[in-house]
Amino acid sequence: MIEDLDNQVATLKEWAKKAEQERKADGAQVGKPVPTSVLARRLAERKVPYTLAVTSGKGGVGKTLVTVNLALNFARQGLKVLVIDADLGLANVDVVLGLTPQYTIEDILSGRMSIENVAITGPLGITVLPAASGVAGLSYLTEEQRLALMDHIDHWNADFDIVLVDTGAGISSNVRYFILSVERILVVATPDPASITDAYALMKVMFMNHRIDHFDLVVNQVRVEREALDVYRTLHRVADRFLSIGLNYAGFVPYDDLLVQSVRKQKPVTLMFPEAPSALAFSSLAGKVLERWHQDRERNGQALFFWRRVLDESAPAPAARPATPPESD
Ligand SMILES: Nc1ncnc2c1ncn2[C@@H]1O[C@H](COP(=O)(O)OP(=O)(O)O)[C@@H](O)[C@H]1O
Ligand SMILES: [Mg+2]
Repeated sequence: MIEDLDNQVATLKEWAKKAEQERKADGAQVGKPVPTSVLARRLAERKVPYTLAVTSGKGGVGKTLVTVNLALNFARQGLKVLVIDADLGLANVDVVLGLTPQYTIEDILSGRMSIENVAITGPLGITVLPAASGVAGLSYLTEEQRLALMDHIDHWNADFDIVLVDTGAGISSNVRYFILSVERILVVATPDPASITDAYALMKVMFMNHRIDHFDLVVNQVRVEREALDVYRTLHRVADRFLSIGLNYAGFVPYDDLLVQSVRKQKPVTLMFPEAPSALAFSSLAGKVLERWHQDRERNGQALFFWRRVLDESAPAPAARPATPPESD
């Protein structure tokens, strides 16, 4: 499965390289860069949204709640937000938002529906691309399906400012594909040792196989911030020492009964109890993401939605270091 993804990345990388060569050749002729290929045109002309994947390794740690409440905080600030439910087969962004979608990503991939008709509008005007639940078929996307989905999203002229991808648990090829497609990766962990180990395993796989070497961490379901900082220190220490991964602390979300209540009511805590401890934490997390977005734009300029990783792959592969799980540190 890893080879599948690597092959796909190699193909895309080849396209990107070709486009870059064409662009350079053209620029050399007239004295300034003139994009000629589709890819280069996209780079030069399109307003490209910031893309963020929320992932964790372990399930049930709070990915969907982080995604949805971040999305609402961005919408509240006037941003045009898209949430992609990428937990194909066990999707629940719609459930958390109290929405009942008629169609799902699966209908786009089967060619039955266009992406515009599948997308639905949620609270505060956020757009949601829902996925199906209880459908095993799509828990593994073929290479063609991945490329098709990438193409649909890339050609969707919807002018989003930010795209949040709620991935499934684990490190399946689907999860890795969605993580590879975005600019920032927000890892959700809890103080539960299994969650810490799984977060480490996820980062390890993304680093060893795909050279992803920076992640942001949010620690959920903590009683006091010290617990979150302990989780961060543990992960940061092993990630830095064994894998040369940069891990950035993005904040924490406290364990909150009001959040549990809001989940039961299918109304996001940000809207139902805006003063709840978790709602305030989501708001502060959204602020951190915005700061990071600004820094990324200053540093990297405009990124390419669903293409950036491919273009970035020119970096040499990392030296394999003995990777030791957190417990043995
Ligand atoms: N900060 C929190 N406080 C209390 N309960 C939480 C918190 N975060 C998550 N939960 C509980 O965990 C459940 C799973 O959260 P969810 O976001 O669906 O996880 P994931 O998407 O990672 O599987 C929620 O339904 C809620 O009951
Ligand atoms: Mg989820």
